[in-house]
Amino acid sequence: MYEKFEKRAEEILCTLTLKEKIGQLNQVPQPVAGNLEETKERIRRGEIGSFILCNSPTAGNEEQQAVMVDLLNELQKVAVEESRTGIPLLYGRDVIHGHHTVYPIGLAAACSFDPELVKKCYHCIAKEAASESVHWTFSPMIDVCHEPRWGRIIEGQGEDPYLASRMAEAMVKGFQGEDLTADDSMLACAKHYVGYGASEGGRDYFRTEISDYTLFNSILPPFRAAVKAGVATVMSSFNDINGQPVTSSKKYLTDILRGELGFEGFVVSDWTAVHQLMKQGVARNSADCARLALTAGLDMEMTDNHYIANLENLVLSGEISEEVVDLAVKRVLKIKIAKGLFEKPYKEPYKVDRTEHIKLSEKIAAESMVLVKNEDNLLPLSKDMKVALYGPFTYERRALQGSWALDGYLGASTPNFLEAMNEVMAGQKGHIHHSYEGVLHDDCTYIFSQNDVIVLALGESHAATGEARCSADIVLAPNQVEMARKAKQSGKKVVGVIFCGRPLALENIEPYLDAILIAWHGGTRCAHAAAKTIFGEYNPCGKTSVTFVRKTGQIPLYYNITKSGRNVDGYYGEGYAQNYIDSLGSPMYPFGYGLSYTSFEYSAPEVDKATISLDGLLAGENVRVAAKIKNTGERTGKETVQLYIRDHVASCMRPIRELKGFEKIELAAGEEKEVVFNVGAESLGFYNFENKYVVEKGHIDLFIGENCLTNNLVTIEIV
Ligand code: GLC
Repeated sequence: MYEKFEKRAEEILCTLTLKEKIGQLNQVPQPVAGNLEETKERIRRGEIGSFILCNSPTAGNEEQQAVMVDLLNELQKVAVEESRTGIPLLYGRDVIHGHHTVYPIGLAAACSFDPELVKKCYHCIAKEAASESVHWTFSPMIDVCHEPRWGRIIEGQGEDPYLASRMAEAMVKGFQGEDLTADDSMLACAKHYVGYGASEGGRDYFRTEISDYTLFNSILPPFRAAVKAGVATVMSSFNDINGQPVTSSKKYLTDILRGELGFEGFVVSDWTAVHQLMKQGVARNSADCARLALTAGLDMEMTDNHYIANLENLVLSGEISEEVVDLAVKRVLKIKIAKGLFEKPYKEPYKVDRTEHIKLSEKIAAESMVLVKNEDNLLPLSKDMKVALYGPFTYERRALQGSWALDGYLGASTPNFLEAMNEVMAGQKGHIHHSYEGVLHDDCTYIFSQNDVIVLALGESHAATGEARCSADIVLAPNQVEMARKAKQSGKKVVGVIFCGRPLALENIEPYLDAILIAWHGGTRCAHAAAKTIFGEYNPCGKTSVTFVRKTGQIPLYYNITKSGRNVDGYYGEGYAQNYIDSLGSPMYPFGYGLSYTSFEYSAPEVDKATISLDGLLAGENVRVAAKIKNTGERTGKETVQLYIRDHVASCMRPIRELKGFEKIELAAGEEKEVVFNVGAESLGFYNFENKYVVEKGHIDLFIGENCLTNNLVTIEIV
């Protein structure tokens, strides 16, 4: 994909001095007042190749300067017209899941199980950010994760490699579009390569132990999908794997990323990840940092200044060859050429009409919401009802945008839940009663007696999630649990709307809530999506992209586990010995789970062949497996039909369930539809202990169902 720019990159490279080459590998934070002239001088000398448009290492939850388009054009002019090389600057920013219009956090968007919708949303994000001169986003974050204590689980697409892979390719294509030089396209960045989501204990920036077997089967697939989708850049991760920092690992950055996955773009470090090699104890000094990272295959250094300070001497002293520098520089130049920066270095800012973007923001927020409990079909509420609305998220705006929403418009642009509920109820017979403090007082007993139902707006602050925001206990705040207890005591039905980032442990509040809607940090129109869902304007169809544990102590708990020798696979039911003496081993809500206001019935799956030859599979033949799904309720609804496999006996232990396909369908009441999956070698194999993809003979169960616990199966044999 980017190799076609090799020749032009080579021609530019030949004109550069060693210093100017190294400048292309140097990314610095956007200039702040006071060092502008000095910055311009550095650009003139060819010492800077890229700016990161933020000025703090954990931009996710801290105020960042807005994108200053005029300044960016001013600096670009210096680079193009006043430096000897004339090479344009590359501007990157954390435009993670929205720009001025914010979409649900990655973990929530994945619950939509709708890659096409996600792709449309991410194209809108690119339109908004690119219109302000942002060439490159440090997104999508595609770290597979089983660790809800880790604040950054919210950024990825959950625990499953297949779902995360479909989302990764949708996000990359959404950002990059069909033409990277187009005005509404942005370079994407698959991050954090690799294994960051396995941080031990859910502690950020921490160590990981990842076997190649797990890496190849569970963690690499979304990166493989992103590379196949043409992702222009990859960001190296902070963590070490089995004692080897990724940032200085040739194995991960070159042998696997380029040799195995075929990545052709360039690798940028995470913020000061190169510097951290000294703290991780593999580099003695700045020169070591630069040498180790560059020779491992890390092309551009984010904000550390080790490259610019050391690479020239390292080359002149013969410690590293200039060819290593040339390789990295050409990779960067190829992406700048691919982006069309040489032809169009300046951006005339233009106003983007956000009307459609806002509509899509509400649509995907609604499709991401997961109805996990609905006792006696309490929801949807009638608009004739008198509703007592309480809770800390009644008035919340910023948290609804989630972490990493650097440029999200706030104020009235992000309606709060009270405004949304009042809007939905406007002109209706019912009413919304709320307490200005949003906190229940003892005197609520009377208020409750005057209302039909209680709705609690609960949740987790955005600032309790994201980077460097890990929790040792992932429960809702005690005052929220107490609020639910009091509400339940009133004898009225209680609805919990939970605006969260992580999949919180809800066992201590669940008994007080008759219905629970996981609304997530769903972006600009999250409040309206939630309000319209509880009143039935939207029929919830989200499915969990990650397991919800009962208690923090169950972590890690995820669905695609291998079978234990003694049936202690609590996930699939308490077995021979329970996992814990003080807790059930099963999840509160499993992967792929979500209720609807209607109901669906699945026929037993049927295959077109009960056996298939291994040779036939490897030659591209497949098995057609199908099931009929019927809407047995009274209203139209969407259902994500999921295909799982189970390889009972193989040369390596295989998971009890593996998601290998899904199709989201909409059915009217009474309507039935057949869903078909064509299952080939790419779905029936795995990477063995030699990191080789193999398909083996034997029996394979094919499941078609509504979540990972389905037992709706048919068995085939590979012969
Ligand atoms: C941060 C994050 C990374 C982000 C980068 C730039 O530390 O780890 O995801 O893109 O630095 O802000």
